[in-house]
Amino acid sequence: MAGVQTSALCNAVSNAGGLGSLPCAMLTSEQLRAELLAIKAGTNKPYNVNFFAHTPPEIDAARNLKWKSALAPYYHELGLNVDEFPSGQGRTPFNAESAELLEEFKPPVVSFHFGLPRPELLKRVKAMGAQIMSSATTVEEALWLQANGCDFIIAQGLEAGGHRGHFLNHDLNLQMGTFALLPQVVKAVNVPVIAAGGIATAEGVAAAMALGASAVQVGTAYMLADECSTSAIHRKALQSEAARHTALTNLFSGRPARGIVNRVMRELGPLSEFPPEFPLATPGIAPLRAKAESMGSGDFSPLWAGQNASACREAGAALITRELVSTLTTVRD
Ligand SMILES: Cc1cc2nc3c(=O)[nH]c(=O)nc-3n(C[C@H](O)[C@H](O)[C@H](O)COP(=O)(O)O)c2cc1C
Repeated sequence: MAGVQTSALCNAVSNAGGLGSLPCAMLTSEQLRAELLAIKAGTNKPYNVNFFAHTPPEIDAARNLKWKSALAPYYHELGLNVDEFPSGQGRTPFNAESAELLEEFKPPVVSFHFGLPRPELLKRVKAMGAQIMSSATTVEEALWLQANGCDFIIAQGLEAGGHRGHFLNHDLNLQMGTFALLPQVVKAVNVPVIAAGGIATAEGVAAAMALGASAVQVGTAYMLADECSTSAIHRKALQSEAARHTALTNLFSGRPARGIVNRVMRELGPLSEFPPEFPLATPGIAPLRAKAESMGSGDFSPLWAGQNASACREAGAALITRELVSTLTTVRD
């Protein structure tokens, strides 16, 4: 979960018998190296490193201007200089530099969001001996991932917090809830399927397994974990009644992602024509976020959360992990 966790959560989950994940989409190479060293020192259990696999778009001056105009009133309101409106890539995809670093550490599992990296890069990851996972939001995407070398497919239902992983078709009407998507993906592919989206309790885990999942991926339910770096503003929102109302918004990055509805989502979106293509929207809204957060407000923050934030609670990640698998009869160490 990029933005709300580091190796600390990854290590705690892996040490408790789950497969902890390190989100790498927003890390520089130096940060990635430091995190991989922290994992090496913190666990001897399997872990996963996660990257985005989008193709960085060209910066489009006209679309950036449109984005600037939409956000200008907020810049004025918060006393920011709109002439200093930043632009650029908000996130880096998996690239040759990431591959080189991973070759040093040989992580056992590498997962991707938004498809898979270019074939030559994927080949390098496979040559390290890593198992490959990626998110599918439709049956078509699951079949594509299987045909292109994925060892495990994550069926990401519409309930999930954070970015939708869709990559073949951007029509949101094609997106399905977890329990509609999961059995269809299980039926269509012959690799193991991991269910994701809205699973936050032991009963939810058992239900996903009953529908054919080989494992589950849980995000939101860990967001108040002691080892998570979720900000105080984000934690407060997760614990408030506002967490009952999430929506898909493209305002924070340019791609639909699920978060708790806040002021900017209500006033400009939640889905809007103003932001440029993913991930070019992030730099422009970042100063508003920083300024508002410095005043204790989450009005311009991506308050990512899934539809089932009700099970979020403050506890150690080991306890959360053990409780999630408590209804399963066999738990692998
Ligand atoms: C705060 C947050 C950040 C996320 N960041 C990532 C990410 O960096 N990479 C990724 O593949 N998925 C990311 N996701 C999606 C999760 O991998 C997963 O699909 C989702 O959390 C499952 O649904 P749930 O939140 O209802 O448990 C994120 C989810 C959340 C809540």
